[in-house]
Parts: sequence; C-alpha cells; structure tokens
Amino acid sequence: MMAIGLLVLLVLMVSKVDADDVSYLQKETTALKLKIDLLSKRVFFKATFQDPIASCKGDQAVIFDSAQTNVGNAYSSTSGVFTAPFRGDYVFAYQTFSYGGADISWDLYINDQMALRARSRTSDDTSNESVLPVTLQAGDRVYVKSHLDLTFYGRNHSFFAGWLVTAF
Ligand SMILES: *[C@@H]1O[C@H](CO)[C@@H](O)[C@H](O)[C@H]1NC(C)=O
Ligand SMILES: *[C@@H]1O[C@H](CO)[C@@H](O)[C@H](O)[C@H]1NC(C)=O
Repeated sequence: MMAIGLLVLLVLMVSKVDADDVSYLQKETTALKLKIDLLSKRVFFKATFQDPIASCKGDQAVIFDSAQTNVGNAYSSTSGVFTAPFRGDYVFAYQTFSYGGADISWDLYINDQMALRARSRTSDDTSNESVLPVTLQAGDRVYVKSHLDLTFYGRNHSFFAGWLVTAF
C-alpha cells in the first residue's frame, strides 16, 4: 500500500516536471518564432522617374513614378508615399539632380511633419544626397516634398529609397 502510494506520488512528480518542461519549451518556441518572424521581414525600395527630364509641383509630395525595387510593396509610385508596414528602425535616402542651375528644395516629411530639410543651391547640374535614419510605427507615412514647381534630371539621376533595418 505504502509502495503504491509512493509510486503514485513519483508518477505525479515526474509528470509535473514534464509538464513544466513542455510548457517552458512551448514558451521558448513561441518567443523564437516571433523573433524569427521579425528578423525575416523585408522592406526595401528604390524609386526614380520614368522621364529623363522630370518635373514636380510645389508644396506636394514628389512622385517618383518608377519603382525599380519595391520589396514589401510599402512605397506607392502613384502617390510618392511610403507607408511603414510595421514598427521598426528605417533609413531613407534621396538624391536630387538639378537641371542646369535650378535650385532644389526637397524636404523629407513624416506624417506631414518636416523631418529633414535640404537645399541645393546650384549654378550647374548638381547632385546632392540626403539620408535620415528614423524609428517608425506601423502606418507612418514618409515622402519627399518640393517647395516649388521644378524641372530636374529624373530617370536614374534623382531617386528616393528606403529600407527596414530592424523590426521590433
Ligand atoms: C551639393 O553638391 C554641390 C556640387 O557638387 C556641392 O558643392 C555642395 O556642397 C553639395 N551640397 C550638399 C548639401 O551636399
Ligand atoms: C536605370 O537604372 C536601371 C536599374 O539600375 C537600369 O536597369 C536601366 O537600364 C537604367 N536606365 C537608363 C536609361 O540608364
């Protein structure tokens, strides 16, 4: 009777330990799956213009209408707006390439707030780059805005690019 009682106790203990181990492993596996899911996310775009000489309207998003790369499809080549698909650290870069001596005033906007102001005062064809690392929440919108109506070198000269560094 005593021996059976001990055996039952032992079995109960062993099954308790096993259950703890299993639930620990399940938790670890779930956490790892989430990590892997975050690490596997890819967002990466580069957009330029179809036309070699392109133009844009003042006080509006510059529409880089030719997306050469758009992994994750977060950039819209019809609106010029990038929409963050999820929270993370991102980097954005754009190059302006002036046509003749036309100054370029293109700023980077996040959710309609200016995040980077850039000016290129040029006396001839000039390319300048601007880069901004930023943490975004899902749904945040990023775009380049021009102060003035402008004509500039487009296809493969001026571009807008961005990529996800880490989702978290
Ligand atoms: C833009 O490019 C011009 C011509 O190369 C250069 O003189 C100027 O310093 C650049 N401006 C910036 C902000 O990099
Ligand atoms: C523009 O760049 C793309 C991508 O690198 C390339 O495939 C294309 O041939 C270039 N177009 C011109 C006109 O240089």
